[in-house]
This record gives sequence, structure tokens and C-alpha cells, in this order.
Amino acid sequence: MLHNKRILLGITGSIAAYKAALLARELQRRGAEVRVVMTPAATEFITPLTLATLTGHPVSSDFTENKDSGEWTNHVELGLWGDVFLIAPATAQTLSAFVAGSCDNFLQAVHLSSRCPVVVAPAMDLDMFSHPATQSNLNDLRSRKVGIIEPDNGPLASGLEGKGRMAEPAFIADWLDHWFTERAPLKGKKVILTAGPTHEPIDAVRFIGNHSTGKMGYALAVALVEAGAEVHLISGPVQLPPPPGVTSHVKVQTAEQMLDAAMMDFHSFDIAIATAAVADARPANQSKEKLHRDELPDAIQMESTPDILATWGSLRQPHQTIVGFALESDDGIASAMSKLNRKNLDFIVLNSMAHPGAGFGTDTNQITIFGKDGNSHKFDLKSKADVAQDIVAHLLKHLYP
Ligand code: CTP
Repeated sequence: MLHNKRILLGITGSIAAYKAALLARELQRRGAEVRVVMTPAATEFITPLTLATLTGHPVSSDFTENKDSGEWTNHVELGLWGDVFLIAPATAQTLSAFVAGSCDNFLQAVHLSSRCPVVVAPAMDLDMFSHPATQSNLNDLRSRKVGIIEPDNGPLASGLEGKGRMAEPAFIADWLDHWFTERAPLKGKKVILTAGPTHEPIDAVRFIGNHSTGKMGYALAVALVEAGAEVHLISGPVQLPPPPGVTSHVKVQTAEQMLDAAMMDFHSFDIAIATAAVADARPANQSKEKLHRDELPDAIQMESTPDILATWGSLRQPHQTIVGFALESDDGIASAMSKLNRKNLDFIVLNSMAHPGAGFGTDTNQITIFGKDGNSHKFDLKSKADVAQDIVAHLLKHLYP
């Protein structure tokens, strides 16, 4: 769940600040992008250079970047960047400043500017932590929906032993993972997805197929997993590794096999998305053996393959949402609209090969999404990963506003 998440890591002035380097590393290892803001006190415990080197982003601890030129750091921009603002370690002083809404340093200004949820991992001596003032501050923050990652019990820097040590970096990463999972917009939703081409055999070594690489479908599977869905991917023959986090990944060769897999438990799915470039026809007579040159027919008799998406559309139940794709060689709007109606879909995603950078094999795509309610939305040319995010965001906006 941390994959592609933007985590704004705030570090405040506690000895536990040294663990923030390990935490940044752990979050990145799990696929998150991390940017760091520090209080001036935190820079006494760990250098901004360490964090900047680890995260690959400059670290901000002051309003002014360059005192001579007057260049300043935009706390509003940083506050809006993150999916979460995680303060680890969070000192008693910072907790109190958050409760009061103080703006005495750059990190506190980012806190006031941020629109994303805030999570704190307190670190302090045991008496400071158990003090009624700190506990009251934590309760105030809790009532404002700030996430609190409880400190650990154990030896403290003071030599005392008790509750106050910042939670370990791996625990904080697990905590965030679970927290994102719980808040994921498609949590509890089951999605079935077809991707890639199909290969329809002529004989034991030859087939009829197309140039689909499956990149769009696989990118969509990743975006759906990131949105918290349980994703079941049915894929034709492609050269891609299974997308991380999918619940099942069934590999098939032919349209018939894809249909069988796509109908398995179909009514248990909330959303069904057909990105596959299914062959429309297959050789009527398929030889199990290799046909030698002198056995090859002059013409191949073809028959239609099953239309998986149309089958879904005809059997759908009211709770289900069906999404199709249309790859056209002209502008394709009329054809896409006809498929939307004919196959009984909620949405159709049109990508036209007439647009440079869109279609099979490319790493980019340019789409327009049409809804059965007559709505349409045209998106810019983007990477297939970003297109996938757009499709998921569009579905969320229309299905679960
Ligand atoms: N599709 C499918 N099964 C098929 C053919 C298509 O599930 N046998 C799905 C595709 O995955 C896509 C949508 O139907 O989501 C449209 O596919 P496309 O090939 O563009 O349309 P066709 O219905 O095959 O129409 P045509 O080839 O005439 O454009």
C-alpha cells in the first residue's frame, strides 16, 4: 500500500531523529516517495545532508533557502504535496505546538498548510510522555483525526526505562501500510480485469494474434491494487511480470480460455474491466501437430471467438460496473459509443491509434472516457501508469462520489 505514496516526513528534535534515516529508507524500500522537513532542533541530531542524500530531494528546515538572495521555501507547496504528513520523531514540544496551531518554525508552518492527514510518532522521556499535558495534547490531536503511533517501552536516552521510545522504523512503515489500507477508496471491492492479446492456434507452432503487450492492463491492475481493490487479473501471453499485490493472476492463451476464466465467479465481482485485445476470430480447424509446408492450406477458414465483454454485459447484475476499452485507428468516437451501448457497459475508454504515442506497445497513452450517462472526459497524453491512475480516479469519482 505504500507503493507510489507521497510521504512528507517531518523530523523534530529528539535523539530518535537518527532513526528517521532508517525510516526514510524503509518507506522508500516499500515504494513510497519521501520528502523531508526538519525543525532547526532536529538538524542538531541528524544532518539535512544525510536525509537529502537518502531521499534524493532537498530537505527544508527554514523559510529562507538562501538568505543573500531572499529565496524562500514554499511551505504551502510542500504541505499540499504529501498523501500523509508523518512526523517521526514527534517531540512533546511539537505535539503541543500542533495543538495550539503555532507557527514558530518551518515544520509547524507546513503542518498548518497541509491538507493531507497527519500522523505522529511521539518520542520522549517516560515522564514527559505520561504527563497529563502531553496526554491531553495527544487526546486533542486524536479528536482531530491525527494518527498516533504509540511509542515503545524500553530503555530511554535518559537512562530511565519505560514508555517513550519512538516506535521502530519497520513498525511505523507497517502501521502506515495498514492505515493506508483501511482508508483505501476501493477497500473491499473485487475487480476482475482482462489484459494482453490472445493467441488463436493454427497448428502446434503458429497462431493468429495481435501486437498488444498488456502494458495498459497491467498498469491498471497496479493502480487498482494501490486504490485498495482485490484484483483478479486474467492475462493473455505477455512478457510482463505479475503486477505486485494482485490477488490472482491467471495466464491464458486463447479467447475461449479467457472467457472461461472471466466467467469464474463473475457475479462476486464489483467491477469488471476488459483491456484485453481479444482476437475476434480463430481458425475453424486447428491442427494439434505442426503443419509442414506442403500441408499448409491456401486459405484459413475462420470462426468468431466469444466476446467476453459482451458476455459480461449480458449477464451483469445491478451492483456490477462494467468497463470496456476501444482501440480504434480513426478518431473512434462513434465506434466507442456503439460498443458502450451494444455491450451494455457503464464506461468505455477510447484510445485512438491516430494519436501519436497511443496504442499497442507504447509506454504512453491518450484516452477519452465515455460514460453511459453521456458524460465524457478527454485526458492528455501520459505514461500508461498515469493513465491508469486517471482511469481509477474517474471510476471513483463517478461510482463512489
Ligand atoms: N472484447 C472482448 N472479447 C472479444 C472482443 C473484444 O472482451 N472477443 C473487449 C475488449 O477487451 C475491449 C472491447 O471488447 O474492451 C472492445 O474491443 P474491440 O476489439 O475494440 O471491439 P470489438 O467488439 O472486437 O469490435 P471491432 O473489432 O469490430 O472494433
